Amino acid sequence: MFCTNSSFRFVRMSSANNTFENVKAVILSAHKSTTSREKVSFYNSWAENYDQDVAVLEYRAPSLAANCISSHFGGAREAAVVLDVACGTGLVAKQMKQHGFGQFVGVDGSEAMLDAARKNGFYRDLKQSLLGEEPLPSEWGLFDVVVIVGALSVGQVPVGAVRQLCKATKPGLSGYICMTTRSNQDNLEYKATLELELRQMEKEGLWTCVEVTEVDKWERAVSDQEDGYIPGAVYLYKKL
Ligand SMILES: C[S@@+](CC[C@H](N)C(=O)[O-])C[C@H]1O[C@@H](n2cnc3c(N)ncnc32)[C@H](O)[C@@H]1O
Repeated sequence: MFCTNSSFRFVRMSSANNTFENVKAVILSAHKSTTSREKVSFYNSWAENYDQDVAVLEYRAPSLAANCISSHFGGAREAAVVLDVACGTGLVAKQMKQHGFGQFVGVDGSEAMLDAARKNGFYRDLKQSLLGEEPLPSEWGLFDVVVIVGALSVGQVPVGAVRQLCKATKPGLSGYICMTTRSNQDNLEYKATLELELRQMEKEGLWTCVEVTEVDKWERAVSDQEDGYIPGAVYLYKKL
């Protein structure tokens, strides 16, 4: 089934057609979206099938980010407040709950993804914001952990938004910021710009790098130029 959304046609499917080839067609249809607004429109059309489809893709970023945070976070987890930026349907909160974290606030640009997250019941608050065009709807210095998974890439959340993630985090070495990005060919330019900004912010004394993990088997490749699995990276910083 096809869904017309603004000037783009996104491939849609029922969960019964949830094969790798079908999921690949869905993802490739989103590559026509070049702006954040178009991408979020795509996520509105994908929300219903997102969880099943990313399972087919063997999308591991939420569990990799949650493992990374869990292996460094030393505070009281049940009380720690986590800001999940570009939270989607809530896969990151689901993983972090398994590590004992209990308080989640979510932000996303897609109303349909937020509706799905609301139904999952992990978040005490959910807010809509199109990052890059709108500010992060958060008080500064409030969160024990700020996490962004699967959204730092071309056409999604611009690199400039990373400073706001740092501002939202508790200062004084008690707050962590965890970010992920893809390391495959079409995201290498974005990744290089992101890493320049991360290093620049470290030079400015805003945070310190705790861990960077490059992962070979990030998720299954969908583009015709790539086979097997694409790589990705998890970054963990501590706010100063
Ligand atoms: C690949 S999903 C990741 C969702 C979730 N973090 C996960 O790992 O399953 C990307 C999410 O980023 C959101 N997103 C993309 N660009 C955005 C923007 N500029 N502002 C806010 N949300 C955005 C989409 O709506 C979508 O929910």
